[in-house]
Amino acid sequence: MTAPTAPERTGLLDTYKRAPVTFVAGRGCELIDDRGRTYLDFLAGIAVCALGHAHPAIADAVAEQARTLVHASNLYHHEPAGRLARELVERSGLHGAFFCNSGTEANEAAIKLARKWAYRRGETQRSTILAFRGSFHGRTLGSLAATSNAAYKEGFGPLPEGFAFAPFDDVAALDAAIDDRIAGVIVEPVQGESGVHVASGEFLAALRRLCDERGALLIFDEIQCGMGRLGTLFAFESFGVIPDAVTMAKAVANGLPIGVLLAGERAAGGLQPGDHGSTFGGSPIPCAAALAHLRVRDELGLDANVRARSEQLFASLASLARRAQEVLDAPRGMGLLAGLPVRAPYDVAALVAAARERGLIAGTAGGNTLRLAPPLIVSEQDVSRAAALLESAVLSLVPQPA
Ligand SMILES: Cc1ncc(COP(=O)(O)O)c(C=O)c1O
Repeated sequence: MTAPTAPERTGLLDTYKRAPVTFVAGRGCELIDDRGRTYLDFLAGIAVCALGHAHPAIADAVAEQARTLVHASNLYHHEPAGRLARELVERSGLHGAFFCNSGTEANEAAIKLARKWAYRRGETQRSTILAFRGSFHGRTLGSLAATSNAAYKEGFGPLPEGFAFAPFDDVAALDAAIDDRIAGVIVEPVQGESGVHVASGEFLAALRRLCDERGALLIFDEIQCGMGRLGTLFAFESFGVIPDAVTMAKAVANGLPIGVLLAGERAAGGLQPGDHGSTFGGSPIPCAAALAHLRVRDELGLDANVRARSEQLFASLASLARRAQEVLDAPRGMGLLAGLPVRAPYDVAALVAAARERGLIAGTAGGNTLRLAPPLIVSEQDVSRAAALLESAVLSLVPQPA
């Protein structure tokens, strides 16, 4: 057992391993630190700043809304939440939206929806949520119970009961895993945190079929891979499988806190007045920012950019992995969510630090994997520059012959 560590001198509790950089500003795909150094941001706050930093349309929407109405409570209607719900419903073809403040809360809402949906149908034995190995659904206790990584759960028990796990992307294992105790199945179409693993269309289609046949709700956690990151607004559109519920957060308001549970026709009646709520959920400023985000992504034709830049990025990463086989395995991912596995004894944290020293911000994910999730507005030059900086960082790890 390790002893509790002292809080950092900043006054923040020591819950993150923070890198020794203080960012003071951002501009498009760049971040600027307190020494005036500029970095190319290929992490975007972990898949948050889809339109990059300090986008004028987001800044204007926030400022205007702040001068108009900041909060009125969910006991009343307000225009930004109503407009955002209608936009998301129209664009997804689903039935209704519940707004909260983060990804983990969106998943809590989805878990509650699935259980209450079964309960309302009189199926009180149907309360288990099926999740998958490698999943990450958040840090609050319900979402944590649906998260497979034991390290995140250690010491926080007892966690809520009624969660089961099946192997990810394994069609054959689903038949035994989905029975009449399963209220809902929650899956990331692309697992981000575990190291960027893309589900096959066949797996997601099998989930859809079995959930229909056996009376469970199918929930897609699109918190990291949705909101345009795969080249479609909703991740499910990239796979051609329509879930009963979708959870979103991260990029929805381009950096302002919002979480969304979208429920389809079949599931929507599961939650009724009084069943769930949130004081700040869907308050006017994040909703105004999200509406501006949707407008700008249409104007820019962002999906086409994501597809073109994705092709370029994955070609560069594959070429780098071939040339640096001692350090890297072949890249994984989809759209602008990429994982580049680092081979032992090389360490992804050292690679991320070397990239940062060269002016490139990248992230880590499980399994010693480098994670790239750049703003969706990246240009061809940005991707070329990121690839060159990454190559220099990779080469710096390999001892050069004397
Ligand atoms: C797939 C997925 N689900 C849920 C979450 C939790 O979101 P939040 O940190 O906003 O609570 C994350 C965050 O990384 C995520 O990637």
